[in-house]
Amino acid sequence: MTIHEHVLAGTEVAVGSLGVGTWAWGDRSTWGMGTYDTALTETTIEEAWEASIDAGATFFDTAEVYGDGESERIIGGLLAADPARAAKVQLATKFMPLPWKLNVKGALLSSLRASLDRLGVASVDLYQIHGPISLRGKGALAEALAAAHQEGLVEAVGVSNYSAKETRAIHAQLAQRGLPLATNQIEFSLLRRGPELGGLLGTCAELGVLPLAYSPLGQGRLTGKYSVANPPPGKRNFSAHPMEVVDGVVAELRRIGEANGGKAPGQVALNWIMAKGAVPIPGAKNRAQALENAGALGWEIGAEDLAALDRAALAGTRTLANRVWQHG
Ligand SMILES: NC(=O)c1ccc[n+]([C@@H]2O[C@H](COP(=O)([O-])OP(=O)(O)OC[C@H]3O[C@@H](n4cnc5c(N)ncnc54)[C@H](OP(=O)(O)O)[C@@H]3O)[C@@H](O)[C@H]2O)c1
Repeated sequence: MTIHEHVLAGTEVAVGSLGVGTWAWGDRSTWGMGTYDTALTETTIEEAWEASIDAGATFFDTAEVYGDGESERIIGGLLAADPARAAKVQLATKFMPLPWKLNVKGALLSSLRASLDRLGVASVDLYQIHGPISLRGKGALAEALAAAHQEGLVEAVGVSNYSAKETRAIHAQLAQRGLPLATNQIEFSLLRRGPELGGLLGTCAELGVLPLAYSPLGQGRLTGKYSVANPPPGKRNFSAHPMEVVDGVVAELRRIGEANGGKAPGQVALNWIMAKGAVPIPGAKNRAQALENAGALGWEIGAEDLAALDRAALAGTRTLANRVWQHG
C-alpha cells in the first residue's frame, strides 16, 4: 500500500496522507458519547485506534477542548497501554486562544503542559492555534509558539481556521523567530470546496504549509448513511447543507465508487481531498468506520472522475462568526 508521507516543516516528523480526528472521543454534546450515541464507548474508541494504526493511519488530531480534555485523556490511556502502537503514532493537539487570555504566552504554555499531562507524553509532534480568536496580534501568538518550541514541548507548530491573509501573517511572524509554519487545519471537503476555490490552498502550497482537512466527510454526511429521510443526529454544524443538496453529491460519490472497484462514498470523498494535496483527518468512532476510512489509502481517483467530483462539489459558506466561534 502506498502511503505518501508529508514531512512537517522544520522537523523530521513524517505524517501519512490520511490522519484520524478524535473530537468525538469523550465528547457528549456534539457526538453524543453517553447521550444519543450509546454505541460509542471507550472500547469502540480503542478498536478504532488499533484499526487505524494497523491500517497505516497513524496521525491523530485532538484538542484541549475536545470533551473538555477527555479526548486527550483517552488517547493518553491508549498510548500508555500499548507502547508498540504508541511508537508508530504522530500526535497533534491544539490551544484555544480565548480572547480573555491576554497573557497568551503564559496561557499557551500552561494549556500545553496540561495537554501533555493528559496525553502522558513529554512533547507533541504538532501544536496548533485552534482559531483566529485571540485579541493579541500574530506576533504575540508566534512568540508563544516559539517559546513552546524552545522548551522542547513541541516539534512543529501550526494554526487552524486561518484565512490566506492570516496564514501569511503568522507565517511571517514565525519566520522572524526562525520557525516555519507547518500546517493550517481547515474545513475542506466536497461540501466545502471554498478553501481551494478562494486561494487558501494555493497560499499554503506557496508557503510550504500542509493543509489538514477537517470534517472531511461533512460530519458523516458524505458516507452515504444519512439522507433526506434519515438526517444526521446531534448538532453537527459544519457542512450543514440541506440533505436534498447533500444527496446529490453522495449520488456522484456512489457512481464513482462503483466504477472504481466498489469503493464506499466516504472513501471516494477522502481520496478527492488527498488528490488536492491536503491530509484529511476523518473522525472514527469504531473499528468499522476506521477500517472503511483507511480504505481511502492505496488507490487514486482518475482525472475524469476528479473533474466530475469538482463539478459536484459545493463551495460551502462560512460567515466570520462561525469561522471564529465554532470550533470542533
Ligand atoms: N480545527 C477545527 O476547528 C476542527 C473542527 C472540526 C473538526 N476538527 C477535527 O477534524 C476531525 C474530523 O472532523 P469531524 O469529526 O467534524 O467530521 P468528519 O470526520 O467529517 O465526520 C466524522 C463522523 O462521521 C461518522 N463517520 C466517520 N467515518 C464513517 C464511516 N466510515 N462510515 C459511516 N460514518 C462514519 C461518525 O459519526 P456518526 O457515526 O455519529 O455519524 C464520525 O464521528 C475531528 O475529529 C477533529 O479532530 C477540527
